[in-house]
Amino acid sequence: MSKNKSVIDGGNHAALWHGRFKEGPDAEAVAFETSIHVDERMAFDDIRGSQAHVRMLGKQKIIPENEAQQIIDCLDSIKDDLENGKLNIDYTAEDIHSFIEGVLTDRLGDVGKKVHTGRSRNDQIALDERLYLKHSIPELKMRLKTLINTLADIASEHTESLMSGYTHMQRAQPVTLAHHLCAWAWMLVRDCGRLDDAIKRMDFSPLGAGALAGSGLPLDREMTAAELGFIAPTQNSLDSVSDRDFLLEITSALGLIQMHLSRFCEEIVIWSTEEFKFISLSERWSTGSSIMPQKKNPDFAELIRGRTGKVYGDLFALMTMMKGLPLSYDRDMQEDKEPVFDAYDTVYSCLGIFTRMIGSASWNIDRMEQSCIGGHANATDLADYLVKKGMPFRTAHGVSATAVRQCIEKGINLEDLSLEEYKKISELIDTDVYDCLPAKACVDARQTTGGPAAVTVQTQISVLKKFACM
Ligand code: ARG
Repeated sequence: MSKNKSVIDGGNHAALWHGRFKEGPDAEAVAFETSIHVDERMAFDDIRGSQAHVRMLGKQKIIPENEAQQIIDCLDSIKDDLENGKLNIDYTAEDIHSFIEGVLTDRLGDVGKKVHTGRSRNDQIALDERLYLKHSIPELKMRLKTLINTLADIASEHTESLMSGYTHMQRAQPVTLAHHLCAWAWMLVRDCGRLDDAIKRMDFSPLGAGALAGSGLPLDREMTAAELGFIAPTQNSLDSVSDRDFLLEITSALGLIQMHLSRFCEEIVIWSTEEFKFISLSERWSTGSSIMPQKKNPDFAELIRGRTGKVYGDLFALMTMMKGLPLSYDRDMQEDKEPVFDAYDTVYSCLGIFTRMIGSASWNIDRMEQSCIGGHANATDLADYLVKKGMPFRTAHGVSATAVRQCIEKGINLEDLSLEEYKKISELIDTDVYDCLPAKACVDARQTTGGPAAVTVQTQISVLKKFACM
């Protein structure tokens, strides 16, 4: 790659710990142990953490205040240079912390060497990860909320669009498309809550925990925690550098989001078959076949479903990496970032793709309505009708089942049985039975909180929309 002349090469600093060693490390060993390709994405968080640390060192008179200011300003210039592409990352550096400290020292000499006073990379990395997630998770939550809003918008157009609800993939009871889509949206609401919970629990600053045992210098950990927007500093220095629960909680929440998307995608794949034909994905979000000219395939839904394995794998990689680690920091923990970032990136991109795919799909309302006919999905409503006339439910269930059996034998639907035939099944049945049998009547009657009737679904939609705009 040709380099712009004004670009400063940030390169080739000795490892921060080289002083104890007579020999330099083997080149292959350096390549093996570096994490900079993965942790470079936390560069600005690292800088922010260092600035808070140094400001505190100055205020506590651990280093002169004017030098603290020089370091803060220089870190600002490093940030600018990285942002503007004027400074190249040196990929032979051990990690992003080493790289930034190296550049700082190149620029400030001895003053730069004071940045790491009272700090270790062990508390530094634990801090950077938290800072990174504190601003990245809200971005992912925005995508969740956009999807919730998209589903609520589609739902608001379909509160009267009848379709069969399914259990065991068998026609069960009539619902509406709106009700069905809201069900997916509620899962995503809980997903937001899980991310919030995880963030709340990790919202404590490990900075100042040092390598594992705090510091003999008069650090003000409350000050750095407050400046960086944490609730408080963590309460045990060993726990501060060895805890990765927050990564596991977040990756597990990401796994659940991906699982929800995957289930939804499975349904979309089924719904776009010729057999179902409930949904037609837009051509922009479909693919064709290299041999079969007629094909229009739901590849995006399949790819999202397929990427779920990767996200689960990330969670398992983390859990397994952590399971045998004694207190406190162990280098194994450097391997924590790749799975978390991979899970984040995967879920983030899948949410974006899924939202555009579903938002541009068209819904085959006639096909959906047809699914309410022919499967005797109103049999429970016939039983409820008899319950309203005073019959015990278990008896009513039997009566309705008798009616269904006769319909199956005759190849007709419950609404086609004559009153005479009904009377033979139960004296309690009257002409008003025909009012409660159409799918629309079944849905309209189900007005219990959370039920599929248009009025109650309207309530769901407004709660969902309010949540999405919060
Ligand atoms: N790069 C390391 C990590 O990501 C942080 C540095 C701690 N290294 C160490 N040798 N104590 O976990």
